Amino acid sequence: MQSSQNIVMSGIRPTGYLHLGNFFGALCNYVRMQEEYPCFFMVADLHSLTTHPDNRTLRESVTRVLAENIACGLDPEKVALYCQSHVPETTELYLYFNMLAYKGELEKTTTFKDKARLQPDNINAGLLTYPVLQTADILLHRANLVPVGKDQEQHLEMARNFAQRFNHRYGDIFPEPQAFNYGKELVKVPSLDGVGKMSKSENQNATLYLADDDDSIRKKLMKAKTDAGPTESSQPKPDYIENLFVLMRLVSAPDVIAHFEAAYDSCTIRYGDMKKQLGEDMVGFIAPIRARAADIQADEQYLKKVMQLGAEKARASAAQTLTAVRTAMGLNYF
Ligand code: TRP
Repeated sequence: MQSSQNIVMSGIRPTGYLHLGNFFGALCNYVRMQEEYPCFFMVADLHSLTTHPDNRTLRESVTRVLAENIACGLDPEKVALYCQSHVPETTELYLYFNMLAYKGELEKTTTFKDKARLQPDNINAGLLTYPVLQTADILLHRANLVPVGKDQEQHLEMARNFAQRFNHRYGDIFPEPQAFNYGKELVKVPSLDGVGKMSKSENQNATLYLADDDDSIRKKLMKAKTDAGPTESSQPKPDYIENLFVLMRLVSAPDVIAHFEAAYDSCTIRYGDMKKQLGEDMVGFIAPIRARAADIQADEQYLKKVMQLGAEKARASAAQTLTAVRTAMGLNYF
């Protein structure tokens, strides 16, 4: 019953602007996967309802995240790129999995506990069953490969448990989905303030967004922390300096990187020059993506077509799974 094929599925939250960390940590992997596997990439608009977003801005967030993903290289012809709310089969499967999910295990989920602390006046049932909906997203396509970061590991473990429970009770229908990425470690893009990684919500001045204009990019980089420079040849780099080199390795040409590495090792480096160069290379990297995303977002007709095509592909795959599920559960009366 189970497919022996590898199928990729991931969800993208329609909150905030995409940043350089999303690009190198996730998107560029998706772009590679689309050449190698059948892929389903979904904008998780139903998930976002757990925090009661403003209904007037939802459309804008959803179209922006679609446009940004396409601008980064996701090809709606190659993958199924769709909105969760356009695939009602998701909510049917969610209901079935809800019957297999226990209150106790849902309450123990880290993301639930965090959210409950953040919004104590709105601890709704959707928040509690968030991992169940995520399981439905993945298993709707009987996907086994899920490109996500570490923060989603617990949700995936729950998805495997729910899949197992279903299979045990009703027969072998679902694979047990695993986190999937190229290489051992996901690329981590450091924050410009030297603390942690770039993130959607924390310190906007320390994060480079794909929608930032050229001047903001340059300014943010010029403000990155440096010091008076190395005093001994080839001494180890402090974290905040290494971070600048990490960024440079992502966007600058090899000879530029080699030049500043050598300048560091010989204690002749001028961080002002380095940040200026990095600013120009970063602008060269981000500006075309920003322009493409803006063009796509302005093209309503095109986006509508993308969403329709994506929904069609996702629903075709979902229909097959649900036929098998209903039959297995004894819900096929005629
Ligand atoms: N929970 C994921 C996040 O916060 C988003 C998501 C929703 C997802 N459905 C998914 C991720 C299915 C992978 C698979 O980023």
